[in-house]
Amino acid sequence: MDKIKVEICCGTACYLLGAASLMSIEDELPAEVRGKVEVEARTCLELCEKENLGGAPYVRFNDTEIMAQATPEKVLERIVELAGGDA
Ligand code: FES
Repeated sequence: MDKIKVEICCGTACYLLGAASLMSIEDELPAEVRGKVEVEARTCLELCEKENLGGAPYVRFNDTEIMAQATPEKVLERIVELAGGDA
């Protein structure tokens, strides 16, 4: 299985609205999904410029799925779901 790609936006808008708290999620991953996830910090994903996406901070999963107003809890939950929900 390919790793789940998680891109955390650390551009100004996202950072100001809480992206810093997302950067530690790699340390909080349940043991079952560790090694299945690749977490990367990104500069502005250019999502903050679009008004209809829900608001920063943004996280992108597997190049396609956008999460707005991301929190560590929401991101961890989604990672577990993407990993097959067995964690
Ligand atoms: S600063 Fe995060 S999408 Fe622009």
